[in-house]
Amino acid sequence: MALFICSNCGYGSASWMGRCPDCSQWNTLVEQRQEKSGRSKEKTRPIKLTSLSKIAAQRKQRIKTEIFEFDRVLGGGIVPGEIILLTGEPGVGKSTLLLQTLKNAKTIYISGEESAEQVKDRAERLKINLKNLLFSGDLQAEGIIEGIENHQDEIDVIVIDSVQTIYSNKLDTAPGSVSQLKETATQLITFAKQNKLAVILIGHVTKEGNVAGPKTLEHLVDCVLSFEGDKISHHRILRATKNRFGSTDEIGIFEMKSGGLHEVNNPLAFLENTSGTTAGKVIVGVIEGRRPLFFEIQTLVSSTVFPSPRRVVKGVDYNKVQLLIAVIKKQFNLPLDRFDIYVNVVGGVSIKSTVADLGIAASLISSIKNVSVPSKTVFIGEVGLLGEIRSVVHEDKIVQEARRLKFRSIVSSQNVKTIMDLRKILS
Ligand code: TYD
Ligand code: MG
Repeated sequence: MALFICSNCGYGSASWMGRCPDCSQWNTLVEQRQEKSGRSKEKTRPIKLTSLSKIAAQRKQRIKTEIFEFDRVLGGGIVPGEIILLTGEPGVGKSTLLLQTLKNAKTIYISGEESAEQVKDRAERLKINLKNLLFSGDLQAEGIIEGIENHQDEIDVIVIDSVQTIYSNKLDTAPGSVSQLKETATQLITFAKQNKLAVILIGHVTKEGNVAGPKTLEHLVDCVLSFEGDKISHHRILRATKNRFGSTDEIGIFEMKSGGLHEVNNPLAFLENTSGTTAGKVIVGVIEGRRPLFFEIQTLVSSTVFPSPRRVVKGVDYNKVQLLIAVIKKQFNLPLDRFDIYVNVVGGVSIKSTVADLGIAASLISSIKNVSVPSKTVFIGEVGLLGEIRSVVHEDKIVQEARRLKFRSIVSSQNVKTIMDLRKILS
């Protein structure tokens, strides 16, 4: 029987369809040839049972990279045998990040994106020791494994740039298709796990933030890292969305300069200036991992010409903004259906924490009423469905940091109880 697989999300269907019912992309369903697994001849073997108490504890000697922000996100460095998927939009700086972080590790760099000359040129600009760096532009998975077998003692990490370019000679589908991705990744992962070699797979994401194709790889790997930021801003955030060897709430912050990526420690790095006031501009304090950070949210509200008004949201959750609009509409009795609303986080980064709710709400109200928030004010708090302001874990830490950074006014659950109390600030 034929099987059609969506090359974007991995959805399977028995017949071809123009549009994937799961991810709504057009023309992504591709027929997958049935490969013989070779398992049919295998005899039934009873499983072996072992008491976990008798298993020797694994000593995780992590490979520390030169870059603290990178190690922090991984949970203290790369674990030998760990498989990491690094995702991000083209041009965000994935290749640069890896060249810099693996400066001192013995690395094999396999690239289908750039030539040896280009990689060398960049490595030299980044002042990286070329002695530890082996390169190959050969992209056949079986060949990669055979080639590496002879160099095992000389390497710590294998980088595949990108996973969409390698292929297996067992299949005749194009590189980047779901079947190729699964096959090549499985081969590399099995090899790496057996030999305790760390593998970093680079994967491109589409504009919507989906990993193109390798979405299906997410459950095969130990750690999924996403590298985000936009071309206009120089800041980049590294986040772990899955991590078998560490937590997923730490982030790494970098700045892209002419000499490559630099680590950022300043919690105000994302703010252009904290003093200017304009309607719709609000500063929020959030906590990422154990670090308080401050971001600027901008909202623009303008009367609509469409029957259903536009809501364009970048950097915060779309549904969260919809919910806050509904809360404001109800509590303030404002005719929001007659306005288009655009919400953006400055710097091309995204905020995942709910502690930014109060700030988003303030920004919406500020723009609708065309009243600006007093300068040096920061908002910290979660908003409930009934408009109540809730405190969040570690709120005290953000407040403390805001005081240290000399914010003049701190608006949080300690001084506002419901969203209606924002009237005092925005009038
Ligand atoms: P790159 O690592 O090639 O991105 P990716 O692998 O994610 O596609 O980075 C590309 C961008 O980074 C490019 O637009 C130029 C910029 N860049 C700098 O600004 N400074 C530098 O030192 C380097 C190496 C790159
Ligand atoms: Mg690249």
